[in-house]
Amino acid sequence: MFKISQSMTEDHRCIDQVFVEIERAITKSEWDDALSNADSFAEMMERHFSIEEDLLFPAIEEATVSASGPVRVMSMEHDQIRYLINVLRTAIIEQSRDNGLSTSETLLMMIQQHNSKEESVLYPMADKTVQTLEEEVSRRISEAS
Ligand SMILES: [Fe+2]
Ligand SMILES: [Fe+2]
Repeated sequence: MFKISQSMTEDHRCIDQVFVEIERAITKSEWDDALSNADSFAEMMERHFSIEEDLLFPAIEEATVSASGPVRVMSMEHDQIRYLINVLRTAIIEQSRDNGLSTSETLLMMIQQHNSKEESVLYPMADKTVQTLEEEVSRRISEAS
C-alpha cells in the first residue's frame, strides 16, 4: 500500500515531466506541440488539485486544527498557479516565445516552492492523520494515467 505522501509526490514528478516538454517545445517554437503539452499539463494539474482540494485538505483540516493556515495558503497558491497556466496558454496561442519562456520560468518556480511545502508539511501530516484515504488517493491518481 502506498502512503499518501508517496503517491502525491510521485504525481508531482509526473506532472513536472510534462512541464519540461512544454518548455522544450516553446524554446524550439514548436507551437502545436507546446499547446498540446500545455493542455495535458493543465488537465493533470486540475486533477491533482481536485484530489487536494476536495479530499485531502478538508480531511487534514478536520483532523488537525493547526493545519487550516497552511491549507489556506496552499489553496490560494493553486489559484495563482491556475492563473499562470492560463497566461502561459495565451502566450503559446499567440506564439510569443519571450512571454512563453518568462511565464514558464515564473510558473516553474511557483510550482517548485508549492510542491516542496506540501511534501515537507502537508503530505506528512496526511500520512499521520488521514491514512484511511490512502486507497482513494492512489485510485484517483491511477484512474487518470
Ligand atoms: Fe497543491
Ligand atoms: Fe500537490
